[in-house]
Amino acid sequence: MRLKDKVAIVTGAASGMGKAIAELYAKEGAKVVVSDFNYEGAKAVAKAIEEKGGAAIANRTNVAESADLEQLFAETKGAFGKLDILVNNAGIMDGMEPVGDITDEKWDRVFAVNTTGVMRAMRIATNIFLEQGHGVIVNNISAGGLRGARAGAAYTASKHAVTGLTKNTAYMYAQSNIRCNGIAPGGVETNISASMTNISEFGAGRQMTGNGTMPRVGKPAEIAQLALFLGSDESSFVNGQVIAADAGWIAY
Ligand SMILES: NC(=O)c1ccc[n+]([C@@H]2O[C@H](COP(=O)([O-])OP(=O)(O)OC[C@H]3O[C@@H](n4cnc5c(N)ncnc54)[C@H](O)[C@@H]3O)[C@@H](O)[C@H]2O)c1
Repeated sequence: MRLKDKVAIVTGAASGMGKAIAELYAKEGAKVVVSDFNYEGAKAVAKAIEEKGGAAIANRTNVAESADLEQLFAETKGAFGKLDILVNNAGIMDGMEPVGDITDEKWDRVFAVNTTGVMRAMRIATNIFLEQGHGVIVNNISAGGLRGARAGAAYTASKHAVTGLTKNTAYMYAQSNIRCNGIAPGGVETNISASMTNISEFGAGRQMTGNGTMPRVGKPAEIAQLALFLGSDESSFVNGQVIAADAGWIAY
């Protein structure tokens, strides 16, 4: 088993890629904290993992709330005594708005979840990792964190910020036995479109230039395989990278 005796937190794990990552991590021997603000969904994922012989607990966290994040890490340490892997996966879309149309409210909401929540979780995790002497962070970013024609201004900027945060963190703690990498999925079959509101016709049309070159839509399980590699010791020499899993989309 590739994650035997590891303890992992996966945020946004009630659905889509987070769910697939939580399930695969558990199958590979990790004790998993299945975290989501959809608590019923998180409980269902944790229960299914346990029914298959894995170890998991469900946790209710809105990653946009500092206090929720504090209790997430406290609950993890309380249940499993340590933390080896943090997977920052929870995220929401914008409405494809270009900067001329984005409202402060939408910008702030997208950044609170996609960027500030990730930074705060990394801040808490890093301090745990420094104390323990080891730890791994895997950020589920996006092709939109590397390219400009994949979403609206807020989502694109929020994910580019996490690309920078990933590289900076990797560099800062490179000599502290802490690794930090990112995944840039292409389009993946999940429920994320449910988070889109007030879609901009202009912006959605413009980003089709980028989206039109997508070779195919991926499955959450295909992204989970990369999250497994990056979370495991097999990637011990990989640090500060944002790796695309997109059937070649970024190559275009
Ligand atoms: N689906 C895609 O095509 C795609 C492509 C690239 C990157 N991504 C990124 O992948 C990640 C996972 O998304 P997905 O596509 O699996 O979507 P999804 O909507 O299926 O799953 C996201 C999960 O995050 C949870 N969530 C949302 N806001 C939250 C919050 N504030 N606090 C806690 N949990 C919250 C949701 O309840 C949901 O369970 C996101 O960061 C997304 O930006 C998605």
